Amino acid sequence: MRFENRVVLVTGGASGIGLKASELFISEGATVVAVDLNQEKLDAAAASLGKAYCATRCDITSVDNIQQLLVDVEKTHGRLDTLVNNAAWAEFKNPEEVEEASYDAQMAVLIKAPLFLVKHAARLLRAAPNGSVVNIASAAAVMAIDKYCPYGVGKAAILKFTEDSVITVPGIRHNVILPGLIDTPILADVYGEEVSVRLKQEVPKVMPSGRVGKPEDIANAIVFLASDQATYVNGCPMYVDGGMHLVNAFNLMQG
Ligand SMILES: NC(=O)c1ccc[n+]([C@@H]2O[C@H](COP(=O)([O-])OP(=O)(O)OC[C@H]3O[C@@H](n4cnc5c(N)ncnc54)[C@H](O)[C@@H]3O)[C@@H](O)[C@H]2O)c1
Repeated sequence: MRFENRVVLVTGGASGIGLKASELFISEGATVVAVDLNQEKLDAAAASLGKAYCATRCDITSVDNIQQLLVDVEKTHGRLDTLVNNAAWAEFKNPEEVEEASYDAQMAVLIKAPLFLVKHAARLLRAAPNGSVVNIASAAAVMAIDKYCPYGVGKAAILKFTEDSVITVPGIRHNVILPGLIDTPILADVYGEEVSVRLKQEVPKVMPSGRVGKPEDIANAIVFLASDQATYVNGCPMYVDGGMHLVNAFNLMQG
């Protein structure tokens, strides 16, 4: 098992990609500190994944919460091997429609929280034998997509932050995954049920890989980047999007 005795912190670890990554890390021997806002989903995951899944309700948009979280991780587990910055919230708008509160809320979870998590986790990650950060951006970070404004900008910021961190936070590997359209609860939350069903039907028709992604497509990449098979992978933007960023499937579909 690749993660025996290792401790992994996954934000947004109660749903979608974060939940699937937590499951996979646990199956590889890790203890996962799964951080999320959604208590109901945390409880459900804890019931099925057992004691290696440490369900932790925490709003990571507060720096005080982040500091306390890392104090608790050190006190309880004594180490941290991998930080997965995965939590997100989105409200898709164009610049002329976006409200200040929505912008602030999105940036707080998409870039402020990952930055301060890295700040407060760096000492523990550096002490680990293969300490690393895996950030979750989006193919939207590099594509111009209608109505994706604050979200796409936040995802471009985490891509840039990952690359900077290789130089500015040394002694830890930093990598970033750019998922395409992945079938998780965020789709219905952001687009509404009807549009999310239509997207899942239409996007595969213009996707090089011909299908929508599954949470395990991203979870497998996260676990690989955190593993000892990836000790020379540093500062890597990894597209796991079925080739979507090369065809911009969202805009093709709208045309
Ligand atoms: N699903 C896709 O198509 C897709 C595409 C590209 C990128 N992504 C990215 O993948 C990551 C995972 O998304 P997902 O699709 O699994 O979505 P999801 O909604 O299933 O999971 C996101 C989780 O983050 C949690 N969260 C939100 N704000 C939080 C906060 N302040 N503190 C703690 N937890 C918080 C939510 O409660 C939720 O459980 C996100 O970064 C998302 O932007 C998803």
